[in-house]
Amino acid sequence: MLPSRVTLVDVGPRDGLQNEKQPVATEHKVALVQALQAAGLREIEVTSYVSPKWVPQMADNAAVMNAIPRPAGVRHSVLVPNMIGFNAMLAAGPQARPDEIVVFGAASQAFSQRNINCSIEESIERFAPVVAAAREAGLKVRSAISCALGCPYQGEVTPDEVEHVVKLMKEIGVQHCGIADTIGVGTPRRAQAVIERALKHFPMHEVSGHFHDTYGQALANIYACLEIGLHTFDTSVAGLGGCPYAKGATGNVATEDVVFMLNGLGIETGIDLDRLVQAGGAISDVLGRAPVSRAGKALLTKQGKVFAA
Ligand code: HMG
Ligand code: MG
Repeated sequence: MLPSRVTLVDVGPRDGLQNEKQPVATEHKVALVQALQAAGLREIEVTSYVSPKWVPQMADNAAVMNAIPRPAGVRHSVLVPNMIGFNAMLAAGPQARPDEIVVFGAASQAFSQRNINCSIEESIERFAPVVAAAREAGLKVRSAISCALGCPYQGEVTPDEVEHVVKLMKEIGVQHCGIADTIGVGTPRRAQAVIERALKHFPMHEVSGHFHDTYGQALANIYACLEIGLHTFDTSVAGLGGCPYAKGATGNVATEDVVFMLNGLGIETGIDLDRLVQAGGAISDVLGRAPVSRAGKALLTKQGKVFAA
């Protein structure tokens, strides 16, 4: 039986916008978060405290966190790779305090080096004090494990390699395990197999799937994960994004497409599809292109919006 309710974490403001070459003004990022909240999203990944030399688009992290409205019931998360990032997050002030931080590692050594400039083992050493400090401060800690279904540098990644990192994350006190298909090469049975490995170490409600849609497999992978009871997924409004360290990776599966599918399955999300589609249309207008979401584009076209061929 499929779950009756699913939680979607919109990672568009972070995973989506981090990949944009042109600077996106802080006010547009804030407006995006606001629009997502108005559409009923209750979990939003807002920004990251990473090096502005590596990812310039996220340099306004503190300004964005200070400007977004913080209504009760909406949880905001930020990526924090090390203590420099953790301290920058604290220095942003109490208004900017997130509900959750995300430490992000990889199941492949090569991607770990390219993305965060250290080996898997070194990354865990860097995360350990961050996790301890965050928990001490009462913040929840989520982990993301990149390249869990394949790596742009190493190629094949085995479920054993993923489970190894899942265990390391658990050992340092991470509370939630996100399994990420960074380059979208996963297919449904493989996705299930890797999620099953995470479920050996974390309970169902503390495991999530993060599927990029590069090969058009994301909806099928999500459906396969629903079949085994998974009910938390990262998605990105308008299909924004990619990864600056995974060439050719397109965005996460579009939130609109997932909500359309879940609505059809009678699974509750608390999200208003019409308002979500407007949010996706608005940020796509800012970026000067059509939404990558198929459902978003179809519904906007139905309302009379014309997209360039
Ligand atoms: P590093 O260069 O190895 O660190 O960076 P370092 O300790 O050698 O420091 C070098 C410089 O960076 C120093 O500044 C530090 O102060 C500064 P300098 O002396 O040269 O002026 N620095 C920082 N500045 C701001 N915030 C920080 C920070 N740390 C050091 N936190 C680091 C290590 C991880 C920071 C760097 O490699 C980096 O920023 N990488 C970018 C990682 C990133 O954002 N990747 C994209 C997000 S992950 C993702 O998208 C995948 C995910 O969606 C799941 C999936 O799909 O797979 C989550
Ligand atoms: Mg990602």
